[in-house]
Amino acid sequence: MLRLKKGMKLGVASSSMQIEGGDIDSNWHEWARKGKIKDGTSPSNANDHWNRYEEDFTIMQEMSITEYRFGIEWTRIEPKEGEFDEAAINHYRGMIISMRNHGIRPLMTLWHFSHPMWFENKGGFLHIENNEYFLRYVKKVLESLGDLVEEYVTINEPNVYAVNSFYFGEWPPSDKNGVKKAIKVMSVLAAAHIDAFKLIKEYNKDYKVGFAHHVRIFRPRRKKDIPFAKFASFIFQDGLSYAFYKGDFRLPFINYKKHEKGIYSDFIGLNYYSHTFVDGKKFDFMDGLPKNDLGWDIVSKDIGTIVDSLYDILPVPIYITENGTCDNEDKFRSRYIYSHLKVLSYSDKPISRFYHWSFSDNFEWAEGETSRFGLVHIDYETQKRTIKKSGYFYKDIISNHGVTKAAFDKYVVPSHYKK
Ligand code: BGC
Repeated sequence: MLRLKKGMKLGVASSSMQIEGGDIDSNWHEWARKGKIKDGTSPSNANDHWNRYEEDFTIMQEMSITEYRFGIEWTRIEPKEGEFDEAAINHYRGMIISMRNHGIRPLMTLWHFSHPMWFENKGGFLHIENNEYFLRYVKKVLESLGDLVEEYVTINEPNVYAVNSFYFGEWPPSDKNGVKKAIKVMSVLAAAHIDAFKLIKEYNKDYKVGFAHHVRIFRPRRKKDIPFAKFASFIFQDGLSYAFYKGDFRLPFINYKKHEKGIYSDFIGLNYYSHTFVDGKKFDFMDGLPKNDLGWDIVSKDIGTIVDSLYDILPVPIYITENGTCDNEDKFRSRYIYSHLKVLSYSDKPISRFYHWSFSDNFEWAEGETSRFGLVHIDYETQKRTIKKSGYFYKDIISNHGVTKAAFDKYVVPSHYKK
């Protein structure tokens, strides 16, 4: 039997754009309108969670889930610059009240890759002056929903956003201008995080605030790849840890708002999926390792190493804010969950939450609907929800606070990684 750490709570995660559905004027809706989603789908469909949240919370309750990381959509709250939509805000109130009535504790994400087109048209997070719009939105959220939510993730994966949108150019606004702009956007997002952290603390000093950091190990292929692997790791993640957690902006990151050094996170939020293999100037995966359906290597031991390295920078409670895998047919998800939880169970660090990504299949950004990360299957035509085998496994883990021999035999043994 694998016993989970004492006090570690298991939950599920999602983000607003990936599940809500509906036609709104956001950067991702615009991106889909331009035909940029690989499978031709759009976030307008997604999971229709906006109208079906009661049903989704009932399923969570059936699965014994009591912790939920979810997002709210800036574009719904402030569809036009300076005009807040009170009906949408009330809708969110209803949603959070329903969540809580189902015995589920909310951890709310304020920004998860999506924002209104009016903000995008001003240059979004490329300009430090635009942070005032973000902070006005955060203020509004606190005034109208702050009494219902005690824990916040300010920004989700600033590095993944900056790199996909401004370096690889695969996400909106697809501004492919090299690494400089990506560094600028990350610096602006760090300032947004610190100011949002301060706002939330002013609202209630006992509230818990952090950000969801995406961290992966950069492995050099050969000795001569070591310096570039180190450099890439610093730019992509290590430099950001210091800026976001401590207001310590190390070059080339820029402290636009002259924030003082301090502690700007109550918890370490870690999103962990895979590693990167550095081969010359190429980022790749490795031959011979198990892969998920997006071709990402599965390397469970890294989650423990990363927890250790983040805890060295900031010794506070650790929330795994995302971990999961793209397994379209639910063939190896149970094994993936088991192997990552196993590493975490042996850690000597205070890991108090684990949010599986994701609760249900959802709109996977540029990949669209075809890449499935959920414990619950979504039929995108009918919106029917069906708990997968891995979903029942997760429920079993929660109920037993660990993996029993019976659950291991039933769910993990028949679950195999692809070759
Ligand atoms: C993001 C999620 C995404 C997941 C799987 C993370 O980078 O925060 O929005 O769906 O990874 O790709």
